[in-house]
This record gives sequence, C-alpha cells and structure tokens, in this order.
Amino acid sequence: MASLTKRFGILTSGGDCPGLNAAIRGVCRAAYDKYGMTGVGFANGYRGLIDGNYRDLRREDFWGILTRGGTILGSSREKPFKSEGTDYDIAGEKVSTIKENYRELRLDCLVVLGGNGTHSTAYKLAQEGLNVIGLPKTIDNDIQGTERAFGFHSALSIATEAIDRLHTTAQSHNRVMIIELMGHKAGWLALYAGIAGGGDIILIPEIPYDIRVIGEHLKKRLLEGKGFSIVVVAEGVMSLEEASMDKKERKRRRENVSMGYRIAREIKDETNMETRPTVLGYVQRGGIPSASDRVLATSLGTAAADILARGKYNRMVCLANDRITSVDLSIPAGKTKTVPLDHYMLDTALAVGVCLGA
Ligand code: F6P
Repeated sequence: MASLTKRFGILTSGGDCPGLNAAIRGVCRAAYDKYGMTGVGFANGYRGLIDGNYRDLRREDFWGILTRGGTILGSSREKPFKSEGTDYDIAGEKVSTIKENYRELRLDCLVVLGGNGTHSTAYKLAQEGLNVIGLPKTIDNDIQGTERAFGFHSALSIATEAIDRLHTTAQSHNRVMIIELMGHKAGWLALYAGIAGGGDIILIPEIPYDIRVIGEHLKKRLLEGKGFSIVVVAEGVMSLEEASMDKKERKRRRENVSMGYRIAREIKDETNMETRPTVLGYVQRGGIPSASDRVLATSLGTAAADILARGKYNRMVCLANDRITSVDLSIPAGKTKTVPLDHYMLDTALAVGVCLGA
C-alpha cells in the first residue's frame, strides 16, 4: 500500500519499562513490511536526536525483541526545551539542532515512545514544524488520552507478586509490612497492586493521609485478631499537613526521603506495632513484558505505522473504549492523569475494607 511517509526516526525517552521493544517491533515491522518505509533509531531519547547519534534500522534490529525488557535504543530524560545551565545545553540551540538533524536525515516524521514529559516535548516539536507521532509508555499509567500505557500491566504483575510474598513474612512475625511502589504524582500502580495483592491500607498521592486514621485501622485489625497488615504506598504520597504546604517547602522537606520508610516510622510511633519497610524501586521497571503489555505495545506500534502511512501526524496512538485509536498530541502534553476521587476502583477498595488513609 502506498505510504505518505517514506522515512521516519524513532526514539524512546523517559523511564524505561517492559514493552518498549515490543512497541518498537510493532512500529518497524508494520512500517517496513506493510508500507515499505525505512527508519533511523536515535540513541538515548531526545539526546540522540540532538547529538545526531543514530543508526539506520535493519530488519534484523527488530527481530527477537518482542519479549526483551528495556529498550534497544537506550533512553534518557533529556528535555530539549529546557536549558540545563551548561554552555552547550541552551534550549534554543538544542531545538534548532534537532530541526537541522531532522531535515538533514530527510525524515518525514519522528516517532517517540514515552510518558508525559516525552509527549510535552513532542507537542512542542510539532509546533516547531516537525511531524511527530507518540506512543504512550509508562509504568505509572498517568498519561492523559489513553486508558492504559504499556509498562503499567507488567509493573502491576511485578508489584503484586512482591506484595503476595510480603503476606507470608508479615503473618509469620505479626508485623506491619510497608511496601513503597513507584508513582510520584499518580497512584494508579499502588491502587491496582494494592487491590490485586490484598493490601489492607493503600496510600496514593491523590489522597493525603492522616496517620491517626491509619493507626485506628491497624488497631481495629489487631482487635479482630489480625496481628499483621500490609500497607501499599505510592512514593509520592503526602500527609495532610504536607498537602497544605507550599510546593517548594514540601519538596525541600522530602528531599531524599523514602515515604515507605517514613510511614513505617510514623506507624510505629502511632501504634507501637512492629513495622518493616520495603522499597520495590526499579525492579518494577525491569524484566520481560507481560503478555498483556506485549499485545498492547504491538497494537499501538502497528497503529502508529498506519497513521504514519496516512500522514496523520502530530497524534498519540492510544487505547480508548477497548479500541486502538489516536488523539491530538495536545491531549497528553503537559498533563498528568491522576486517580479521580470518584474512580470506581477506590469504591472497590473501600468495599473490601481497605483503608485509604483519610
Ligand atoms: O516515570 C516512571 C518512573 O518510573 C516513576 O514512577 C519514577 O518515580 C521515575 O520514573 C524514576 O525516574 P528515574 O528513572 O529517572 O530515576
């Protein structure tokens, strides 16, 4: 089938996750085999696009990568529109270099796989005249415009398995086990893993917590003869007091503080119960993608190739009403999809007796 796109660039940007290579494979196999396109892969996200660090992609580059974790292209958190203060890192120069490289390589479009920051940059590059298509990637699942991003389901499985394991040791020692999961601004991963793993208390950034409410819930469980509890905490949770603070002051106070460790201390002080914290960290971003993420990443990838061929640029492919479609790049740009306080999964949690800390 004839294609309006002959040659595209592709890059992966932001925190890595399982499913990135499945998505790269989906885009490239469809683009090459269905539409006769060719592509160049940029190394390490937008940094490679600035430095002209790329390679022509051959078919063998995207063979056998469906189940591989991480990204064969590498990633970074480079923000081309932000000056990082060093001489060569001036936003204006970085953006003009990107436009120059894009033109010199005769690209018809740039395909970016990333989260919120990546799509904000993609939208700005589109406003600068580049053609861009985005694919939603993040374990946080906090991208506006798509019901799910690939990476989330894999991290959910990893976190749930970890919580399952904490149950046995919590019960053996009659302890309160606190597990800290990723999710700075949005609590999707903690909420879903907390429900899947049978967490007794789930704390998310969207609901500031009151340690007295947590203490009451733990004491009530003790009176019911349950000497152990599982507390699932998103790394971005805050107390009621912090929620009323000025953002800068809150950031300063929380510099290098693990919320999992802090909440373990607060529970000990509040209830005198024995607590042990676990920070699951980068384990949530590692390893092979789940089957569900492989399917989602492949579907989004092939859909991206279809809109590349149709020249339907400056959109993000997405999952909506269980269908793969696309939205304008302005939809995810600069936004974070947080858990709405009337979300049905919060009702589900409460209905099975979970305490949400407030
Ligand atoms: O954006 C995904 C994410 O994994 C967050 O959940 C986490 O807080 C952050 O990336 C960690 O960023 P970095 O990989 O730069 O340390």
